[in-house]
Amino acid sequence: MNKKSIKRAFCMFLIMSLCCLAGCGARQEAEAVSDIKEDDLIVVGFSQVGSESYWRNVNSESMRSVFTKENGYKLIFEDAQQKQTNQIKAIRSFIQQEVDYIVVAPVTEAGWDTVLQEARDEGIPVIIVDRMVDASSDLFECWVGSDFELEGRKMCEWLRWFCVKNNILAEDIYIADVQGTIGASAQIGRTKGLEAAAEKYGWNIVAQADGEFTRAKGYEVTQQLLKRNPKINVVYCENDDEAFGAIKAIEDAGKRVGSNIKGGEIMVVSFDGVKPEALQDVLDNSISCIVECNPFHGPRVEAIIRKLQNGETPQKYEYVDEDMFSAHEEIESVVVDSKQYPVTRITQEVIDRRIMEFDSGDYGDQAENVY
Ligand code: AHR
Repeated sequence: MNKKSIKRAFCMFLIMSLCCLAGCGARQEAEAVSDIKEDDLIVVGFSQVGSESYWRNVNSESMRSVFTKENGYKLIFEDAQQKQTNQIKAIRSFIQQEVDYIVVAPVTEAGWDTVLQEARDEGIPVIIVDRMVDASSDLFECWVGSDFELEGRKMCEWLRWFCVKNNILAEDIYIADVQGTIGASAQIGRTKGLEAAAEKYGWNIVAQADGEFTRAKGYEVTQQLLKRNPKINVVYCENDDEAFGAIKAIEDAGKRVGSNIKGGEIMVVSFDGVKPEALQDVLDNSISCIVECNPFHGPRVEAIIRKLQNGETPQKYEYVDEDMFSAHEEIESVVVDSKQYPVTRITQEVIDRRIMEFDSGDYGDQAENVY
């Protein structure tokens, strides 16, 4: 630990001890916080992808909620508006400002070597969060996020068993893949999972197009794909926002959304499961299955920084645990690589409980929820 960090750690310890001795009253706490000097804060520069989805907004909030003055941090938050060039600019400005840590949620995987090398040359540790970078692993301290390919594979196992249990032949499945931002790990993994399953089970992927992880693009792309491919009976949306757009596009085209493929409905499946509206859509059978993508990375990144501050070595790669949601009782779990993943059956009670947990900020022990 360098001198600056030791001083900061000592200050934080002192403030917390004083606060506890004083009975941790709200007033004392507020006084203690206002006594924290800017110079003593750990400065974290965070380059966020943008605000393309509900998931992203929750993720930003998760980061903002832990990197606070009370916790001993100063957060410099930069929204890249889905552009890698903005992220590179932000990282260079973090370097100029001599931040203590750089945290990056990369929009796409490629193109990071130069700027990460610049951070490394200045001795600033970089933590990658959510999506992955395609760069040498010694250019960043560690990464925490989702296994996006596993998410895709879990979804496809669910679809496979849905077909088996409902006597739907593989050759009668016509899938439109509304992809996420092309080149983003979340797109690469989920698309890969689908393509491998289609090959293995004999499904038809009739169209693939970039839905940019947004509701508007999800609508536009689904509308076009449906016009060109009247046989489509499954829309595989690579996030919930795209699914909201896809559902509207299907309905606007005069078609029915639902799981009854044999009865002429078009099935929508998606990823995230963060917005209550999405879970409500599962309950109402507008979305047949959602594979969760967990956005609560703030406490995880903070735990990594704490470890680095203490001179410990954090795990290089940490994958988060993720659930699956469906209203269909017949599939209780799916198996991928011999591991069983339960499917949570969505009921109003489950939705209400999740809303309550989110509202109270109690997401279970999220920081520990990694493997
Ligand atoms: O990288 C995570 C993905 O990015 C989420 O699935 C999506 O909603 C977000 O925009």
